[in-house]
Amino acid sequence: MSAGRRHPAEALDLAMTSTLLAKAREVAARTGTATGWAPRPGGPNVAMHAISASMQLGDAKAGLSMGAAAAIAEKFPWDRYHSVIDIGAAEGCVPAQLALGHPHLTGGGFDLPAAGPAFEDYVASHGLTSRLRFYPGNFFTDPLPPADVLVMGHILHDWSLQQKFTLLRKAHQALPDGGALIVYDAIIDDDRTTNSFGLLMSLNMLIETPAGFDYTAADCRSWMADIGFRDTYAEPLPGPDSMVVGIK
Ligand SMILES: C[S@@+](CC[C@H](N)C(=O)[O-])C[C@H]1O[C@@H](n2cnc3c(N)ncnc32)[C@H](O)[C@@H]1O
Repeated sequence: MSAGRRHPAEALDLAMTSTLLAKAREVAARTGTATGWAPRPGGPNVAMHAISASMQLGDAKAGLSMGAAAAIAEKFPWDRYHSVIDIGAAEGCVPAQLALGHPHLTGGGFDLPAAGPAFEDYVASHGLTSRLRFYPGNFFTDPLPPADVLVMGHILHDWSLQQKFTLLRKAHQALPDGGALIVYDAIIDDDRTTNSFGLLMSLNMLIETPAGFDYTAADCRSWMADIGFRDTYAEPLPGPDSMVVGIK
C-alpha cells in the first residue's frame, strides 16, 4: 500500500479510537470516574458497543467467547486432564463447549452467586447438568475451586496489575502439580503493532474500569513465571483473542 493511503481496517480503527477517546473525555467530564463494565444509568457501556458494532459481533462478549471456546476445545490436550472449571464463567459457554467436545471432562463454572441461575439453565439446555455444576463465589475473597484445568476468559483485562497477580496466584494455588491455567483475552501482540482490536480493547478497559488493561502474551507469561508456573506458552485463537497456558 502506498504511503499516505490507509488500509480500510486502519481507517476503521482510527475512527473507533476517535469515538472511544471522545467518549472517555465526555465520561470523565461528566462523572470524574471510569464508566464501569455493566450498563447503568449515567454510564452506559457505549465504548464496548462501539467496538462490538464496528466488528459486527453483535454481543461482543458472547460472540468472542463462543469462537474461543471452540478453539480451546480443539487446541488444548484435554486427553491429559479430567476436570475443568471456568473462573468467571458467566452463563457457561466455555465449559459447555469443552464438555460437549470431550465427554470424559467434568467440572463447571465459578462466578458471583447471581450468575448461578443463568449458568444452570444454559448447562441444562445442553444436557450437561450431570457433568457441570455451578460454584458460587467471589474470586477476590474466596478460594478458587480446585480442578486439573482452570480457565480465565476475558477476566484479567478487567483488573489492575496487582489484581491480575492476585487472580493468577489464586489459580496457581488451586491447581494440582501438572495442572494448567488457560487465560484468554484479546491479547496484544508482543510488538504492540498488529492486534488493533486488543489495543482498542485495552483503551476500552481504561475507560470502562478503574484500572483494567489488556496485555501481551509476553506480559502474561512473565507474570505466570513470576508466580511459579513451570512452563508457559501462547497460541492464537480465532479473531483477536489468544490464549496463554501456564503449567504448574
Ligand atoms: C467479561 S465476563 C467474562 C465471561 C466469560 N468468561 C467469557 O469469556 O465470556 C466477566 C465475568 O466475571 C465475573 N466476575 C466479576 N467479578 C467477579 C468476582 N469478584 N468473582 C467472581 N466472578 C466475577 C462476572 O460476573 C462475569 O461473568
